[in-house]
Amino acid sequence: MTTTSPVGAEIDRVEGRAKVTGAARYAADQRVNGKAYGYLVQSTIGLGSISSMNTAQALAAPGVIAVYSPFNPLKLYARQGDSAERYVPLQDDKVRFRGQIIGLVVAESFEQARDAAALVRTQYREEGHPRTSVAAAAPGTTVPSDAVGYPGPPSKNTVLAPGVASIDDALRDSAVTVESTFYQDPQNHCAMEPHATIAEWRDGRLTVYVGAQGPQQYAAALAGRLGVESDRVHVVSPYVGGGFGGKYKVWNDALVTAAAARDLGRPVKLVVSREQAFILNGHRPALQQTVKLGASHDGVLNAVWHETDSEDSVVGYCPNLPAEVTRALYKTPNLHFDQRQVTLDLPPISSMRAPWATPGAFALETAMDELAVKTGVDPLTLRLRNYATTSPETGRPWSSKHLDECYRVGAERFGWADRSPVPGTRVDGEWLVGMGMASGMLSATRAPASARVRFRDDGTVTVASAISDLGTGATTMLAIVAADALGVSLKTVSAELGDSALPPGVPAIGSIVTGSTVPAVQAAARDAITALITLAVQDAASPFHGKNSTDVHYQEGRLEADGRSVSFAQLLRAVGNPAVEAIATTAPGAETTRYAMDSFAAHFCEVRVNRYTGEPRVSRFTTVVDVGRVVNAKALRSQLVGGIIFGIGNALLEVNAIEDNGRLANSSLADYLVPVNADIPAIDTHWLDYPDTVFSEFGSRGMGELTTVGSSAAVGNAVYNATGIRIRDLPITLDKLI
Ligand code: MOS
Repeated sequence: MTTTSPVGAEIDRVEGRAKVTGAARYAADQRVNGKAYGYLVQSTIGLGSISSMNTAQALAAPGVIAVYSPFNPLKLYARQGDSAERYVPLQDDKVRFRGQIIGLVVAESFEQARDAAALVRTQYREEGHPRTSVAAAAPGTTVPSDAVGYPGPPSKNTVLAPGVASIDDALRDSAVTVESTFYQDPQNHCAMEPHATIAEWRDGRLTVYVGAQGPQQYAAALAGRLGVESDRVHVVSPYVGGGFGGKYKVWNDALVTAAAARDLGRPVKLVVSREQAFILNGHRPALQQTVKLGASHDGVLNAVWHETDSEDSVVGYCPNLPAEVTRALYKTPNLHFDQRQVTLDLPPISSMRAPWATPGAFALETAMDELAVKTGVDPLTLRLRNYATTSPETGRPWSSKHLDECYRVGAERFGWADRSPVPGTRVDGEWLVGMGMASGMLSATRAPASARVRFRDDGTVTVASAISDLGTGATTMLAIVAADALGVSLKTVSAELGDSALPPGVPAIGSIVTGSTVPAVQAAARDAITALITLAVQDAASPFHGKNSTDVHYQEGRLEADGRSVSFAQLLRAVGNPAVEAIATTAPGAETTRYAMDSFAAHFCEVRVNRYTGEPRVSRFTTVVDVGRVVNAKALRSQLVGGIIFGIGNALLEVNAIEDNGRLANSSLADYLVPVNADIPAIDTHWLDYPDTVFSEFGSRGMGELTTVGSSAAVGNAVYNATGIRIRDLPITLDKLI
């Protein structure tokens, strides 16, 4: 009997039952005996210093164990270059932003800690006015080239055709030009699971239960801040209730929890409130960006220009490089980008949902729609007319690129041919109906990764890597790839992840997990098979003892030689070994310097805008992607749909406006709007199946964040087609359409 490979099929998530029955333990659900509860005290001014804090009443409150403050600090350290915040909490009296952590109350119960926190009396000296506006501070300074922590792409570059003196000349010499400036306020991740930490020290070793996008990266950063070696910190993070970039960094709420647990010699649990998560756990930075396009009368690009000014919070860092898409999406002889940042006195920023490409593609793909209007060329034709087969910046060919097919297939599925090029001409009762399209693109990255594959004597297989499953399906991916590599049934495989003690895994950022981890699992499976055969020929109790290892063949969980066939479980029991395993590490090779590697999407959107109220509703959405080989069709569709929903939220709903005093205006899911079911139509997704065998032997590129990119531009372009109104300040709310 042949085992059918699960690769590419519709596979339910392997941990699905645990999740829907409540058996899955998220960070705050972990049972740790004897724990105390923490609650944070936050600053109520935006800039200045603390002149005094009266904690006597809080300390006297029922159940209170300790009150930490700048005047009774916790032992913590600053460390450069880790993935934690720039300020170390409770070490000085400085207030850097509104809502900064200025105290921690620890009590016997959560309620006691919260109530006592309200009793802390703080006096401040306000010092000047917080800097809050990107526009007022622009232009900023170019993002340092080493800002991403690895030799990343340049944050500023100009590529000119021979004989062209400057990018301004190239624009001036173009028959048609478009220049547009875009703005968006901060946005928040809004993971369903708020940030939670349980910290427990034993014999100088810390176990921390936390939702972490990269368990080992988290452990290393936390250890540095606590002043201990990385191997003394064990991060346990088997389930994460959404991350979206917000659970990569070690936020200061986790830091003070771990330090308090050490100080008290007792486990401490701290769950931030939803309001605190909006302030303390990062946001997508405010951003102003300008795109200039120069083209011929028939829309052939001659120059592409993109400059950006992003909020950089004074306390927390994530470089913002929105020209990621601009630098490579279209063929152009002249290209210029400059990505800058301005320092503001605001809560920490962080990466969020395709952090760079999402806002960048909104600007570029909106500007392309404006070029289509100006030249009278159909937006889809315009994209095909400027299709790039080599990177305009580096000249490299793509490892595999079928975006042109995505456009054509998507247009067909969606019915793009029915679109009226004249805005406002399709009317259905009180609704104006418009269609828009846009491209999405996300760089495909492979990082070094390790995995372990273990044959066990009960006939099961475990596959492990210290990656994280934010709800994306990474656990299921591990199991599928191991089952495929070993030719065994998926039911016999269990996957382990979300633990810093496992073989080194890549963090769940940048959509790199699948692309990086699949080769490691495959290599570990090959090595585990080799180890199994070695055991079979060497162990005296093995039925294959003394044979040449090349005469023993592995197939679908069995070893065979000379007509004799033994399952791996039988072999392991015969020799008395509970398990045989292998750990393998893989890394990308020279292909990364020879090819451009990206995943691609074509988005098509229909919106209906109410003629009287201006209310915009997305009524149809079709997206076709090229992501290489598909591991799990069900997980892929979920990820694609999720990304499109993020795009719709980005376009129409999500905003956290900055008040002049430095307060982020929204701090609950009632006033920060994310799409709900009523906002989302049936979404049509489709994927091409072109394994990218340059990227990896298996051929699967990342796709987690792909469809967030460009989908908001498709919505905005459809709104324009419906109404003739071009909105460049997100989100596109009804007040802007009447
Ligand atoms: Mo993601 S926003 O790259 O964690």
